[in-house]
Amino acid sequence: MRIIESVSEMQQQADLWRRESRRIALVPTMGYFHEGHLALMRAIRDHADILVISIFVNPAQFGPGEDFERYPRNLERDLGLARGVGVDAAFVPTTGEIYPEGYQTFVEVKGITQTLCGKSRPNFFRGVTTVVSKLFNIVKPHVAIFGEKDFQQLMTIRRMVGDLNMDIQILGHPTVREADGLAMSSRNAYLTSDQRFKALRLSRSLKEAQDLLDRGERRSDAILSRVREVLAEDGDVRIDYAELRDPHSFEEVPEVTGPTLLALAVFVGVARLIDNCILHLSS
Ligand code: PAF
Repeated sequence: MRIIESVSEMQQQADLWRRESRRIALVPTMGYFHEGHLALMRAIRDHADILVISIFVNPAQFGPGEDFERYPRNLERDLGLARGVGVDAAFVPTTGEIYPEGYQTFVEVKGITQTLCGKSRPNFFRGVTTVVSKLFNIVKPHVAIFGEKDFQQLMTIRRMVGDLNMDIQILGHPTVREADGLAMSSRNAYLTSDQRFKALRLSRSLKEAQDLLDRGERRSDAILSRVREVLAEDGDVRIDYAELRDPHSFEEVPEVTGPTLLALAVFVGVARLIDNCILHLSS
């Protein structure tokens, strides 16, 4: 596996692969790999000849007072895991390589980024779409993959790629969960064992919402109040949002009449955890 730190080297290598008619796949990451990251790598491998990952903790998507400094990092371990799944190249730039002195350009999707995570983290999506655009220009992939745990991020990237006519196929991958239902996330590393137990309420509340729907409840208010009840059980968590939304427009829905996004963001201790599912009417 090649480890590439400079933008120009990565671009030259990508040009070479493209001249050889090799199809390039990219898995953009912020590192500290868990099974969810490895699943993205395995899933995209069959869609291309060359598998590239990027590892870059992107300062532009963190707000003041957020966890940029303490975001978990372990490059050596990540590179070992990437080798194990057959990654061809890891692009691991420094911050200065991505945002050199005098950097002034940002990419912003309006509309769907103004709500949910965009409301509580105002610069988050602008930071994500900026760095992902840059990674697309540097690694020149034909195809890239993102996890559905960050559903709003996935939809925002799809919107950016469509709106800006980027010739890149975007794949989504289902959320990878621990055996007990906890969605895998690098931020789970912040949880004590007691908090980890409390964090199970996120996946449990998603399941309860689907159960309620299966029993005939359609009203969003009723479903969300049950979700909040499950999340708040025994206190100790702070709900940032728990919302039912149209999965394309992200508009609120008063009733569930078709596939509907149930999206959660909850603070458990210092960890802000997100999870979601698409609720379906039973046939
Ligand atoms: O989902 C992530 O890990 C990050 O937001 C991404 C897409 C790698 C951009 O920094």
